[in-house]
Amino acid sequence: MSIALEYQDVSVSYAEGTNKVLRSITLSFEQGERVALVGLNGSGKTSLLLATVGLVLSEGSIIVGGTRLERKTLAKVRAQVGFLFSVPEDQLLFPNVLDDVAHGAIRSGLTHDSARKAALAVMSELGVESLAHAPLHSLSHGQKQRIALAGALVTNPPLLLLDEPSAALDPPAKRKLAQYLTTLTSTLVIATHDLEFAERVCQRYVLLDEGQVVRQGSDLAEVSEKWT
Ligand SMILES: Nc1ncnc2c1ncn2[C@@H]1O[C@H](COP(=O)(O)OP(=O)(O)O)[C@@H](O)[C@H]1O
Ligand SMILES: [Mg+2]
Repeated sequence: MSIALEYQDVSVSYAEGTNKVLRSITLSFEQGERVALVGLNGSGKTSLLLATVGLVLSEGSIIVGGTRLERKTLAKVRAQVGFLFSVPEDQLLFPNVLDDVAHGAIRSGLTHDSARKAALAVMSELGVESLAHAPLHSLSHGQKQRIALAGALVTNPPLLLLDEPSAALDPPAKRKLAQYLTTLTSTLVIATHDLEFAERVCQRYVLLDEGQVVRQGSDLAEVSEKWT
């Protein structure tokens, strides 16, 4: 098995001289693995995902698909990653839903027609194809989240980093998303509070507490309510 993502002694602080919000993170994820990143509010889940694509500065080594994250490899690393922000507004750029989902595919070299087809196919898997021509501002939070996710998935990136993907979804939408995510061949790292969702999708968990990995394993039942 090859390693899809690796952290070697990674630390993060948001400003020089302030406390580290992540300390000595050493982890490694295999190709195709689906891992839940769990932990209380403020434990550092979002910071770790952001650091992985260089949106937050880190010390130590982050290696994505064999490429160490550095200023000069930033574009190469980002091209391998599909990212879902916990606030979908942060990543929706176009007024039209279909254009928004398709733009990554166009940038990766597909024609407009093929990109739109690919976009509609992913939107259909997520149950939002009927929104293709809706104005973005008219959508609910859960709908926006699935549109943003479709945009992250449309290029079929080898690594998916999803921040609270189930947070705004109703139970049927959650089940549909969980089922779909298990069909993907990408490596998945999902930051979530939603243990039931994590259990449906992930084969492994990593528990963060106050910026450190305090536990990891394959049985999410070990992670009690007190940790999420
Ligand atoms: N932009 C920021 N500036 C300063 N501190 C931040 C910023 N974002 C998050 N933090 C701090 O980093 C810590 C980890 O937060 P975060 O990664 O958002 O945790 P989680 O996603 O697990 O809730 C918290 O103490 C939080 O207050
Ligand atoms: Mg978070």
